[in-house]
Amino acid sequence: MFLSKFLPQALILSFLTIASAAGYCPLYEVQLYDQKIDHAGNHNGTFKQQYQLTQDYYKPGGPLIMYQGAENGYFSCMEYLSLLSYAAETEALLVGLNHRYFNESVPFGPITNASYDWQYLTLDNVMKDSVEFVRFVKQQVPAAANATTIVAGGSYGGFLTMMLRLNHPETFHGAIASAAPVHLECANFPNTTYQWVQPDYVSNVYEDLSWEIAQSINQSWTVMEEMITKGNGTGVQDELNLCTAPSNATDFFSLQNVLSTGLQRLSQFNYPQAQASSTNVSLPLNHLIKHASNSTSVFAPLKEYTKITMSTVNPATPDCYDWTTGGSAAVGGAGVSMLSFGYIFCTYFPLTTCGATRPGGIFYPDPPQALTYEAGVAANCAAYGNVHLWTPQELSHAYKLNDQSIANMTNILFTLGQYDPITGYSVGEFETDGDVHAPRRWYASNTAHTQDIVAWWEGDSQGVMDQRNASVAYIKAWTYGG
Ligand SMILES: *[C@@H]1O[C@H](CO)[C@@H](O)[C@H](O)[C@H]1NC(C)=O
Ligand SMILES: *[C@@H]1O[C@H](CO)[C@@H](O)[C@H](O)[C@H]1NC(C)=O
Ligand SMILES: *[C@@H]1O[C@H](CO)[C@@H](O)[C@H](O)[C@H]1NC(C)=O
Ligand SMILES: *[C@@H]1O[C@H](CO)[C@@H](O)[C@H](O)[C@H]1NC(C)=O
Ligand SMILES: *[C@@H]1O[C@H](CO)[C@@H](O)[C@H](O)[C@H]1NC(C)=O
Ligand SMILES: *[C@@H]1O[C@H](CO)[C@@H](O)[C@H](O)[C@H]1NC(C)=O
Ligand SMILES: *[C@@H]1O[C@H](CO)[C@@H](O)[C@H](O)[C@H]1NC(C)=O
Ligand SMILES: *[C@@H]1O[C@H](CO)[C@@H](O)[C@H](O)[C@H]1NC(C)=O
Ligand SMILES: *[C@@H]1O[C@H](CO)[C@@H](O)[C@H](O)[C@H]1NC(C)=O
Ligand SMILES: *[C@@H]1O[C@H](CO)[C@@H](O)[C@H](O)[C@H]1NC(C)=O
Ligand SMILES: *[C@@H]1O[C@H](CO)[C@@H](O)[C@H](O)[C@H]1NC(C)=O
Ligand SMILES: *[C@@H]1O[C@H](CO)[C@@H](O)[C@H](O)[C@H]1NC(C)=O
Repeated sequence: MFLSKFLPQALILSFLTIASAAGYCPLYEVQLYDQKIDHAGNHNGTFKQQYQLTQDYYKPGGPLIMYQGAENGYFSCMEYLSLLSYAAETEALLVGLNHRYFNESVPFGPITNASYDWQYLTLDNVMKDSVEFVRFVKQQVPAAANATTIVAGGSYGGFLTMMLRLNHPETFHGAIASAAPVHLECANFPNTTYQWVQPDYVSNVYEDLSWEIAQSINQSWTVMEEMITKGNGTGVQDELNLCTAPSNATDFFSLQNVLSTGLQRLSQFNYPQAQASSTNVSLPLNHLIKHASNSTSVFAPLKEYTKITMSTVNPATPDCYDWTTGGSAAVGGAGVSMLSFGYIFCTYFPLTTCGATRPGGIFYPDPPQALTYEAGVAANCAAYGNVHLWTPQELSHAYKLNDQSIANMTNILFTLGQYDPITGYSVGEFETDGDVHAPRRWYASNTAHTQDIVAWWEGDSQGVMDQRNASVAYIKAWTYGG
């Protein structure tokens, strides 16, 4: 987990952690097919790439829906995704492709350290895997040879989904990109509009839900710093039920960082099912707002936060909040293969610094955090050798990753959620256009990171249910509407 300190909190958890048991997936077998190690021909070997396929819902004339795998260490079964019901409602052939270099879709055996042979883990190869896979599927199911093909994915997988539609429109006729980061300007040290968007965005979320609680959070840092630096660290320990007392300015800095990061993740991953790796309650953000609202103490929100996360942050000390372990590092993180994703972060998906913090908003009202990200990124990426971090300009030129190309694209639906900071650096609103093929941004209230892509769950908001319904409507329009 060496990179996690520098990861944007945004991307650490691409999905709810719903890893499957043995056999991997409950209904549809995980199969293997031979994929080229390098589509550019610099390696003639193949590797076994994992996929799922079901014709249970397919009627000739219906679409082919492909789930684009992402950075999960486990195999993401289609059975846990809303795409299964999309397929049922649109009479689709449904398939899912695992991402190369993840889970068991590895070209050179198990990945155990950063010295793996990474050279074929390129954006080109990842996209061409999907193109080749669709060709393969259409051979396997000849009735679907001309099926309208729609790709869907979330978070980093949402980014890939968008890139597939932009760069391989002849294969992918439509795309549903959930929580897709689009503005990868973070690598533009030190000047970027988007570098600070994560804490700013989540400040707005708290302000939207409760002005009083946002105020308390904002003020609590000053009060905490004063208590700690004036020798009353044990007072802070008592207030927040910490395992140990913070005793100096360095401790204050760490504690604030851990709690601020945690409060941001609480919003991003505010799912209706409690995530065992992060909190013991469902809808933890709403829980915090509700339970902290009755108190006039400036520490009420932080106190509620430590209460609902302490048993998960360090299970060895379930009765107090252990901020010295990095605390919120355990919040999110589950299920991601960091060795492979770290390489991607250091090359073609340069989001590494988007989780950086600055004064402003309610999380860091106080003096500037040390902006050590640039050095941190360099140090972490050094583990992979002499890698090149793509600049936004390079991505724009080579892969059409720019606002104009996206606005020009047809048949693409961006789904975004209120609680998810990625909403702050995904696409902006498009010009209104009555054409059903025009690109569309669908923002849902009461919705967390990539929630629409995940199957229905008790407690899902109306917003996310509406978003899923809209996705079905668009798939029908793109497939049957001409
Ligand atoms: C791949 O195979 C072709 C045809 O056999 C050969 O010409 C080429 O040198 C091989 N490439 C590599 C990288 O081994
Ligand atoms: C692949 O994912 C499955 C769960 O879907 C998990 O049981 C298995 O251990 C994973 N394999 C590796 C190499 O991580
Ligand atoms: C790193 O992984 C490679 C295989 O990918 C292996 O050959 C090598 O021994 C590993 N190195 C260490 C230090 O574990
Ligand atoms: C797909 O389209 C081609 C070219 O129009 C046609 O020859 C073929 O019969 C079609 N296949 C199916 C299964 O509809
Ligand atoms: C960043 O912006 C400042 C102020 O506009 C400018 O002086 C500086 O040259 C810029 N740095 C880079 C690396 O673009
Ligand atoms: C330390 O903080 C606690 C909790 O806020 C408070 O009750 C106590 O009076 C403070 N002690 C001093 C010496 O200020
Ligand atoms: C701050 O206090 C911690 C113990 O809480 C200690 O380990 C650390 O060395 C102290 N740092 C400084 C700069 O005094
Ligand atoms: C907040 O206070 C109101 C009025 O005293 C009470 O009815 C409610 O149950 C309290 N809510 C919580 C979450 O404690
Ligand atoms: C969550 O953990 C806290 C602290 O251990 C406990 O007070 C609370 O009852 C737990 N809530 C649930 C729903 O388990
Ligand atoms: C947070 O508090 C600072 C004072 O510490 C104040 O200047 C700032 O306006 C507050 N921000 C918000 C968003 O309330
Ligand atoms: C947008 O589409 C128009 C019409 O097809 C084309 O002329 C223009 O070059 C495109 N612009 C971009 C940035 O793709
Ligand atoms: C819309 O979503 C609701 C809740 O998931 C579902 O019951 C309903 O059938 C959906 N409507 C359509 C048209 O898909």
